[in-house]
Amino acid sequence: MKWKTALEEMKPYKPGKSIEEVKRTYGLTDIVKLASNENPYGTSQDVLDYLNKNPLQYEIYPDGHSSRLRKKLAEKHGVSEEAILFGNGSDEIITIICRALLDEGKHTIMATPTFPQYAHNAKIEGAAITEIPLVDGFHDLEAFLDSITKDTAVIWICNPNNPTGNLTPVGEIIKFLNKVPEDVLVVLDEAYFEYITDEQHVDSISLLKQFKNIIVLRTFSKAYGLASMRLGYGVADPAVVTPLNKVRNPFNNNSLAVAVAEVAVMDNGFIETCRSLNDQQRVRFQELAVRHGLHMFDSQTNFVLIQVPTDADEASEFLLRQGYIVRSGNALGTPGYIRVTIGTEEQNDGFFAAFEELLQKGGSHEA
Ligand SMILES: Cc1ncc(COP(=O)(O)O)c(C=O)c1O
Repeated sequence: MKWKTALEEMKPYKPGKSIEEVKRTYGLTDIVKLASNENPYGTSQDVLDYLNKNPLQYEIYPDGHSSRLRKKLAEKHGVSEEAILFGNGSDEIITIICRALLDEGKHTIMATPTFPQYAHNAKIEGAAITEIPLVDGFHDLEAFLDSITKDTAVIWICNPNNPTGNLTPVGEIIKFLNKVPEDVLVVLDEAYFEYITDEQHVDSISLLKQFKNIIVLRTFSKAYGLASMRLGYGVADPAVVTPLNKVRNPFNNNSLAVAVAEVAVMDNGFIETCRSLNDQQRVRFQELAVRHGLHMFDSQTNFVLIQVPTDADEASEFLLRQGYIVRSGNALGTPGYIRVTIGTEEQNDGFFAAFEELLQKGGSHEA
């Protein structure tokens, strides 16, 4: 076969262990998955009620335009309906952006470590990649600017950043955008937007009035609690959305996902509750880190990246045996740390107990 040469050095996505797999392997009955930043509170009750009452016409193709959801989101964000692009998860929008803008001879810039799908898809397209190391978990936007060349086509800002959770203030993004050439697309990936509690933070969709070369990515997978549905969207100037739409598959969003998203997007109360509960629990993680003298990045998301006293793979394995699935920093470019989704109060109680055991085993950093 004449595979793309870029594929030679790449590996397929290795998903974290599933709950069923962990139960089987370790003979456990109760597992808490804190590895993929899903919503531990589930989804809106309105969504569950809707699912009980509304059978779908399974034989009919989805509305390829997702018209009703499009209208609702356009109203919510104060943009035109043409400013929205739907993806099968925001993952697919990342793929679409790479497919439409990157190929051999093109260049793209991102942080490291950051969400790996930017580099993954850019590699498949054969583009040159510059990865700019984070500074204390933050994007180094000055270094981004210094790396722009005439071939740079896409710049990725993961905000807040996965896996550190740090939030780049919109003020800094504005200063940055003022210096980026207008023909470079800047992607603001805001998968965790709904969890931000920083009062200074401004909704970056408002920047679209000033900057035509940005796309803001949002998802129903995190705070909306609909990761299984695979639905994300981008908001951008219609002049950006139209070419991206040429690359999009005609029926990339299934009818069920779109139907439940229409319900979910109306339940602001659920999002506010989740944001507030998540914030309360995030504080408990901060206290845990301080108590044990462990470094933890300043997260504005529903996960934390926290230092561990042993090798991160060993720490994750230890926690797994206690029934807690977390992500080892070794796989995320942050050795010495684990990434933990912030669970419910009860889940965190259990996690903290398991973590304390890990510290006793591995030696606490406590002075
Ligand atoms: C920063 C970031 N962007 C995008 C995604 C993809 O989300 P989805 O494809 O489920 O919308 C994730 C998922 O973890 C993420 O962390």
